[in-house]
Amino acid sequence: MRGDFLLKDQVVFLNHGSYGACPREVFEIYQTWQRELEAEPVHFLGRGFAPVMKQARQDLAAYLGADADDLVYYPNATQGLNVVIQSLAENLPLVAGDEILSTNHEYGALDKAWTFVSEPRGVIYNRVELTPPFTTAEEFADRFLAHVGPRTRIVYLSHITSPTALRFPVELIVKRARSLGLITVIDGAHAPGHVAINLTEIDADFYSGNCHKWLCAPKGSGFLHARRDMQKLLRPIVIGHGWRTTPPGESVYVHEHQWRGTFDPASYLTVPAAIEFQAHHDWARIRADAHVMATYAMNRLIDAFGEPPMSPPTTDWWVQMVAAPIGRCDAGAVSTRLYEDHTIVIPIIDWGGRTFARISVQAYTTRAELDLLVDALVDLVPKFPHPSAKAG
Ligand SMILES: Cc1ncc(COP(=O)(O)O)c(C=O)c1O
Repeated sequence: MRGDFLLKDQVVFLNHGSYGACPREVFEIYQTWQRELEAEPVHFLGRGFAPVMKQARQDLAAYLGADADDLVYYPNATQGLNVVIQSLAENLPLVAGDEILSTNHEYGALDKAWTFVSEPRGVIYNRVELTPPFTTAEEFADRFLAHVGPRTRIVYLSHITSPTALRFPVELIVKRARSLGLITVIDGAHAPGHVAINLTEIDADFYSGNCHKWLCAPKGSGFLHARRDMQKLLRPIVIGHGWRTTPPGESVYVHEHQWRGTFDPASYLTVPAAIEFQAHHDWARIRADAHVMATYAMNRLIDAFGEPPMSPPTTDWWVQMVAAPIGRCDAGAVSTRLYEDHTIVIPIIDWGGRTFARISVQAYTTRAELDLLVDALVDLVPKFPHPSAKAG
């Protein structure tokens, strides 16, 4: 499907995970919305805005197995989760000695957001070391939740992790955390379009995700979902016209969070087209094929470098994105050479004392591109030793 995307011909794009890529057809709809706005800004952002946004929310809610009144578009998961993190700190409130239980697989910017609210309050942001390999959801949940202590108030983790590309069993974690009386916050940045999601079944207190990554919507389309009974804890980061003006019968949560001053809502309004695009192209099959291809690349790298994988190679643990272990090397230098010498775009990640190539396989990826990656890594890794090896 390479021709269906706008990616440059020369680039071997194995990093869908970072920012996604938008199909041509979906991007054209995005631009049509932008033109409509510019053709009549006052009408579009005034009278026209509420009904089209409502439709876009309803379509996304139906896709995510949620109620549209519990779902607000935010530009990205960083902002959605910042609303949760800053609100919980203020409104629970979090006080000295309270603990947030998390993992050492989380996204750096959000580790910072938790640290930002925790440090001045004397709150403990506990990033538990969960060292692979992982075997089953139950084993993972046991290991993680064994760290719950008397002052733990919140459990925070990713649905699909950034540095290790692992799919964590959030359904089980949420269930068990709730039975312990804990609040659950899930970072779903990589999940929509990547794994089937039913937010009602996951039932996390707060779940924020991105549409611009694996759902292939335009950049700047994310959302924050909050359980109805927890919405009162959230404060919009921006106070604007929505505050104290919710029309009768409408969701206060949606009304207060949705309008954050003048902005371009075209990326949100295009999300239904992205959902439709994937449905039309039988994305369940594309995901299944992508998993087979990613497994192929990972097995070749395991053969080449002899490093053990982090989990079984099943879709319980990863689907279209896998962190394949390679020989220990200078990640920055190898990733630069991959791009400069082979135009391969892929993150090479230093994590937990090991090095990984985080391979994203999308509808446009070919087996030849994966072979090119493996051959290039076999050549480059021995040439660029890890800085610790050089020093010692
Ligand atoms: C696990 C995870 N959470 C959050 C984010 C942040 O996404 P965004 O920059 O769209 O807010 C990322 C980005 O890659 C991520 O991998």
